[in-house]
Amino acid sequence: MSKFNVVVIGKLFPSALEKLEGTCEIKVWDKAERIPDPLLYDWLQDAEGLISRGDIQVNEELLAHAPRLRVIAQSSVGYDNINIEDCTKRSIPFGNTPEVLVEATADLTFGLLLSSARRIHEGWDFVQQGKWAVGSNLPFGVDLYGKTVGIFGMGSIGKAVVRRAQASGMKVIYHNRKQRHDDAETGASYVGFEHLLTQSDFIVVLAPLSDETRNRFGKAEFKKMKPTAYFVNAARGAIVDTEALYHALVNQEIAYAALDVTVPEPITPDHQLIKLTNVLITPHIGSATVETRRKMSELTAENLLAGLKKQSLPKCVNE
Ligand code: DGY
Repeated sequence: MSKFNVVVIGKLFPSALEKLEGTCEIKVWDKAERIPDPLLYDWLQDAEGLISRGDIQVNEELLAHAPRLRVIAQSSVGYDNINIEDCTKRSIPFGNTPEVLVEATADLTFGLLLSSARRIHEGWDFVQQGKWAVGSNLPFGVDLYGKTVGIFGMGSIGKAVVRRAQASGMKVIYHNRKQRHDDAETGASYVGFEHLLTQSDFIVVLAPLSDETRNRFGKAEFKKMKPTAYFVNAARGAIVDTEALYHALVNQEIAYAALDVTVPEPITPDHQLIKLTNVLITPHIGSATVETRRKMSELTAENLLAGLKKQSLPKCVNE
């Protein structure tokens, strides 16, 4: 039996690769830099399956180079780099990896909140740089207990953050396009966007990037926040106007920003945000634990295999 031709952008776990071996002939681009378009288009000519990565824009321009493509899978829950409509027009299912990354991403999100509020990472720098002496200490952090956390984009990850926040004695409010049906169960209260901005001590962004959420947090929004507010973004950098965030931090319109996602990514060491002392940035590691990335990788392989065999994908965005 002939094998399926598959293009893989990025690294798969050995356990995921094993699932493909035997049935697939695989071309892999696992370098950190983006694959050059001419090479990708050449590989796609006879590809039946594609495992994409966030730095590849999947749209009609790319799909036109992939006449035999049956399925696209990606190891992420977010898929703002994929034009779903263009895939659907060509009857190509797209599979992502929700659910398996919920707890790990919630840990990192809450970790950013906790580390910035309690200056954990700054404390370590302080000790490492030999600044810890009797009578000299870091500026104080702030309590979580009794504070209000406002979640923008309450989905499964948001709900997992709610549990962590409640364990620390925080009150949770949230804003979505629509109120959820499980507020009684989660204990989080639905509020308007304006209320979220003005009343939250910690604002946590977890919404997907879309035309509606792009630059949702700009100059006007930061001005409405409390001057003591902490702003955490673990979703997508482009939901925030980076320039406006920088000015809000410099002018002390808000107290602090903790970001796992930025524009650009990777953010360069000479970027103006990095020079500030009221910022904590991690390199987009929300789901980056061994166990979670393994599960994501395996689910990606399962999505791909199902599509190659013209079966329903275990997790499909456009079916
Ligand atoms: C996701 O799963 O969307 C993560 O942010 C990785 O891109």
